[in-house]
Amino acid sequence: CGIVGYIGHREAYSIVLKGLQRLEYRGYDSAGIALYDGEELNLCKTKGKVSDLKDKFEETATSTKGTVGIGHTRWATHGVPNDVNSHPHYSNSGNLVIIHNGIIENYDTLKKELIKRGYTFESDTDTEVLVNLIEDVMVNEKVKLGKAVQIALNQSVGAYAIAVFDKRKPNELVVARLGSPLAIGIGENEFFIASDASPFIEYTSNAIYLEDGEMAVVRTQKQIKVRKIHDDSLVDPYVQELQLNLEQIEKGGYEHFMLKEIYEQPNAIIDTYRGRMLVNEGIVRMAGVDDNIERLANAKRILIVACGTSWHAGLVAEYIFEDFARIPVEVEYASEFRYRNPIIYENDVVIAISQSGETADTMAAIKLAKEKGAFVFGVCNVVGSSISRESHAGAYTHAGPEIGVASTKAFTTQITVLTMIALKLAKHRGTISDSDFRYHLQELDRIPAKISKVLEANDHIKLIADKYKEAPNCLYLGRGYNFPVALEGALKLKEISYIHAEGYPAAEMKHGPIALIDEQMPVVVIATKKGHYEKVVSNIQEIKSRKGKIIGIVTEGDEAVRDLADYVIEIPETIESLTPLLTTIPLQLLSYHIAVMLGKNVDQPRNLAKSVTVE
Ligand code: G6P
Repeated sequence: CGIVGYIGHREAYSIVLKGLQRLEYRGYDSAGIALYDGEELNLCKTKGKVSDLKDKFEETATSTKGTVGIGHTRWATHGVPNDVNSHPHYSNSGNLVIIHNGIIENYDTLKKELIKRGYTFESDTDTEVLVNLIEDVMVNEKVKLGKAVQIALNQSVGAYAIAVFDKRKPNELVVARLGSPLAIGIGENEFFIASDASPFIEYTSNAIYLEDGEMAVVRTQKQIKVRKIHDDSLVDPYVQELQLNLEQIEKGGYEHFMLKEIYEQPNAIIDTYRGRMLVNEGIVRMAGVDDNIERLANAKRILIVACGTSWHAGLVAEYIFEDFARIPVEVEYASEFRYRNPIIYENDVVIAISQSGETADTMAAIKLAKEKGAFVFGVCNVVGSSISRESHAGAYTHAGPEIGVASTKAFTTQITVLTMIALKLAKHRGTISDSDFRYHLQELDRIPAKISKVLEANDHIKLIADKYKEAPNCLYLGRGYNFPVALEGALKLKEISYIHAEGYPAAEMKHGPIALIDEQMPVVVIATKKGHYEKVVSNIQEIKSRKGKIIGIVTEGDEAVRDLADYVIEIPETIESLTPLLTTIPLQLLSYHIAVMLGKNVDQPRNLAKSVTVE
């Protein structure tokens, strides 16, 4: 979910609405807004997107005026996405309104208690329980809003970023965070509240990111006060200067963010290695690695934890680390790792990969690893995100904001960072020769231009998309370094076109998926020259003899696969370990075009969210 708030001297409506639109990547099942016009609270919420909210609000509200307002865009956890379950939620008296991102786990117990005291509930949400708990504390303990929020949160178990408004005190907002991100933008006599800084970058470049367990009372004409929720101690907040600019979060002429982000990959990768990789000198400098080189290079084992696409980047990294640095690697879904009582040794290194740096399962996994004494290294895209702060050290991917829910440039830049780390560790351990090391840097440096070359195949890929867009199923096969790419290709198709797709190691096909193959079944096979080529060609023959349709991702000039396949997409030659950076691109474009042709919402696929801050 995403939350936005404004308090100051401007009209809050457009700030909150635009802010919600920028946060829709965090969820878009339903949306809501509450504005205070000086006398009344105008509240509107609806199932659907922020654009639906805008229509509904402008049709029904008595006024869109007011210099204070809060809004919410939801990814449903408790309760189906409908109007009633949308945020903001009123307290029973109608004086308080709240927006909440997260989960109150003990809401059921709290709710029963409140029902006994006469409270009634309209929605199924945990959030409505929290706002009434706050109200109950205000009434019973005769305390102000800030104190009441604090007391109520100390009785709550779970995760939250909240903003609460009391219409009897219209010059203040109370905000708090535990486990879900919350940024406060500081203007002149005005404050902005949001799940990230994107809603307010055109108004101020000063922001405070609340830490877990902190709350703030934000008042116009007053200094902001930040406290620890559990013991009320005052915190001196660190005011950050934001680096983000407006252009980075707009579509810049592309029809969708996803397409823009696919095309940004050559530059995103350059941004990832710029200043770090000195090709001529044969040096890779990464502060987070250099400062901890002994700890990292002497790891007995590397555990990689991540979710979704980031987990696929982790799988590619497994091949790279083992191949070059000769350190054993295990790649785990963060959600499985955290709950299976894992064995973690003190000389293990845990690498957490996360675009957003906010994924709840990944965050919990690194907390567990830290408790057990492991060294945690974060690979995140969002600067200042929770996972990057919780890690002992790390390296940012510097891909720039990724807004399309289906991850693209985050994936390729993650692989870029992980490649550089693996090479550094290999060099330190003496498991790679100097000349090989330099050769890898040179080849990595050539990747952006080669990606641009792959992108030139866009129209050809569009034709292939048109041919197979009606397929009910699709299989993706790859081996070695390109096995994770097959998984990622299948995930992309599933996510945005809703076509069922599976990724498989090519050789495993004969142990099951081959049963699915008939003349209806498109099979995307990654068959690049380096990487078990002959074996993959045999796999292609097996598909062909069962009448499957073959789309081959091949190295420029390939002939054997071209003869067998229905279509081929060529990629330039590179070293095996870097092929995922090239083979991924046509798979992204293929799923993009299929989804567009099927009329799906590419940037905001149903039921998904970009940043999943609940477990
Ligand atoms: C969500 C997104 C995916 C992403 C995954 C992990 O499911 O829709 O695109 O790969 O979360 O997110 P992270 O921010 O940790 O990389």
